[in-house]
Amino acid sequence: MNATTKKNLDWSKLGFNYLKTDYRFCAQWRDGQWSKGELVTDPMMTLHEGSPVLHYAQTCFEGLKAQTAPDGRILLFRPELNEIRMRETAERLLMPPVPTELFMHGIEEAIRANLAWVPPYGSGASLYIRPLLIGVGENMGLRPAPEYDFRVIVCPVGPYYKSGGLSAISLAVIDIDRAAPLGTGAYKVGANYAGGLLATRKAQALGAYEALYLDPKERKYLEEAGSANIVLATKDKRFLTPKSPSILPSVTRRSIVTLAEKELGYKIEERPIDFLAEYPNIAEMGATGTAAVLSPIGKILIDQKWYPIGENPDQPGPIMIDLYNRLTQLQKGEREDPYQWTKAVQLD
Ligand SMILES: Cc1ncc(COP(=O)(O)O)c(C=O)c1O
Repeated sequence: MNATTKKNLDWSKLGFNYLKTDYRFCAQWRDGQWSKGELVTDPMMTLHEGSPVLHYAQTCFEGLKAQTAPDGRILLFRPELNEIRMRETAERLLMPPVPTELFMHGIEEAIRANLAWVPPYGSGASLYIRPLLIGVGENMGLRPAPEYDFRVIVCPVGPYYKSGGLSAISLAVIDIDRAAPLGTGAYKVGANYAGGLLATRKAQALGAYEALYLDPKERKYLEEAGSANIVLATKDKRFLTPKSPSILPSVTRRSIVTLAEKELGYKIEERPIDFLAEYPNIAEMGATGTAAVLSPIGKILIDQKWYPIGENPDQPGPIMIDLYNRLTQLQKGEREDPYQWTKAVQLD
């Protein structure tokens, strides 16, 4: 069996879980310099007990996917936007950004080394890529770490939400904010997610898939979901998405908005959105993210009242289905890519 013979997995049954693949790419920042990086097989990391990642959450990460095209190419989707976001996040946390070439090289190396784990075309699964940057080394006081570790992990994954495929999800507004008005909401820092675990749990206890956050200043405008941005199509053909300094700038949302404008002729409005004021005019809503792709939102719980969205809240509506198909066909290389969003991994 050669290294590219696909693993004997039931690709169509995969959920969104960690699965140990053969290699991960690692690089270190020591004495003010990044190493050139290498592939390793060991999934365990040894850290100094004083490492700032452990005490002060000096950590950030990214998430993107690779998909196999019908012609066998392996396509990344807009990885340069993940690189920019990770650089901006690193700067926000006073971490040395991973140089652009090292970031891209790490991703491509991890994919090439794990070709056997890249889901085949048509399997319904994709390869999730998780770049991770952590502050390590001997330390006690609150200050940036003396050293940093960069790692790229890859895992084959299926759908993120347990509903699977393209089916409607539900969100609940609960009494927890994800971010502070001038905090770290716009950055992909680990601490945002630790703080959100309770919100997700509370939302799920209320029967929703995930929490829907309101803006942390007035608690009036839509912010985003736990791991996805929000988009709304109105009955009068406008396409709305919340504007706020504390929302993570989703790569998927930016792509969906472009498709809605350029291919479906929607008028785009990125602005604060008061859900209750907008409600009578909402045709459909969706949650956008690398993991969530475009998940149609069927209902929203606010103040103990469920608000159904669209004609049939249990089913994805035609607008979200159309946008989902346009996006995923691009991501899988099933149609021309006039935007040059996909980037083929160099395989030899
Ligand atoms: C809080 C949050 N918002 C939005 C997103 C979606 O962003 P993207 O489309 O870049 O994956 C994610 C996931 O990455 C997220 O964690």
